[in-house]
Amino acid sequence: MAAVALKRTGQKMPLVGFGLWKVNRATCAETVYNALKAGYRLLDGAGDYGNEKEAGEGLRRAISDGIVKREDVFVTSKLWNTFHAHDHVKALAKKQLGLWGIDYFDLFLVHFPISLEYVDPSHRYPPEWWGDDKKVHLAKVPFQETWGAMEELVDEGLVKNIGVSNVQGSLLIDILRYAKYEPAVNQVELHPYLTQEPLIKLCGTLGIAITAYSSLGPQSYVELGADKGAKNLLEHDTIASIASKHSKSHAQVLLRWAVQQGLAVIPKSNNHDRLVQNLQVDAFQLSDAEIKEMSSLKAFSHDPPDASRSLREM
Ligand code: A2P
Repeated sequence: MAAVALKRTGQKMPLVGFGLWKVNRATCAETVYNALKAGYRLLDGAGDYGNEKEAGEGLRRAISDGIVKREDVFVTSKLWNTFHAHDHVKALAKKQLGLWGIDYFDLFLVHFPISLEYVDPSHRYPPEWWGDDKKVHLAKVPFQETWGAMEELVDEGLVKNIGVSNVQGSLLIDILRYAKYEPAVNQVELHPYLTQEPLIKLCGTLGIAITAYSSLGPQSYVELGADKGAKNLLEHDTIASIASKHSKSHAQVLLRWAVQQGLAVIPKSNNHDRLVQNLQVDAFQLSDAEIKEMSSLKAFSHDPPDASRSLREM
């Protein structure tokens, strides 16, 4: 399977992984087990997804059944916004590893460059964006403090690679001013409605790999009421016509558009056939014209569902 070598460690990160956001907790262990059985070798989780224990159960069952070895699977997790203070970073990384039942993450990302007031996990976990009063409470933790604590996780062997998510160019450059270990990965929303060309270019220059989320378009936000009414990318005529030319599904064409640009993708599916199909994006090639045609859909884009949406609700 195609992979990208991460800076500093050289570790290979598969370009197609299985995303755990909104994977139902009740079926998560089974879904993860089946994803590994189907050939996925990257699991993309996060404290905020609320299913790390179940994901870990699926992974450990696949290991004990001999389907994979721990070292064959690239496990990503993310630090939530309420745990950015130095002492909380390690405590939470350890808690999350405990939930998974593993002793290291291959990649640990700062989920958002937004620090929120601490919520004790015994009070509420995952804490999400809001306090008990349903309001967002910012915390005064500068990113440098969080990044220093992330680097300590590397030194202690709790994580192999560290990175960021939902970060734009100016903060990336700031991190490089003080980083002992530079971010290896930046995970951002990226699809033909939100092509992020300047960020792709900058990350290429800096040697930072990009993982695209919401590759199939922003429909995951529809049920959150956060989409902007843009036409579902999976049903778009442009995607349909390219897909029929290649005898591939609409989803495969959208995933291929990213992978062919050297971007990693982490589609999620609660449906086994779609999960299997999403892994099969290596065996065809889009033309440059098709890539361009897809990228031009950004003209019909929605507002990116970025963190400022939650902050506007403060
Ligand atoms: P489902 O889980 O029912 O398959 P995300 O952008 O967060 O990765 O979510 C992907 C969205 O696209 C989910 O709503 C998922 O629903 C759906 N999906 C995943 N794979 C496919 C596919 N191959 N074809 C159509 N829809 C898909």
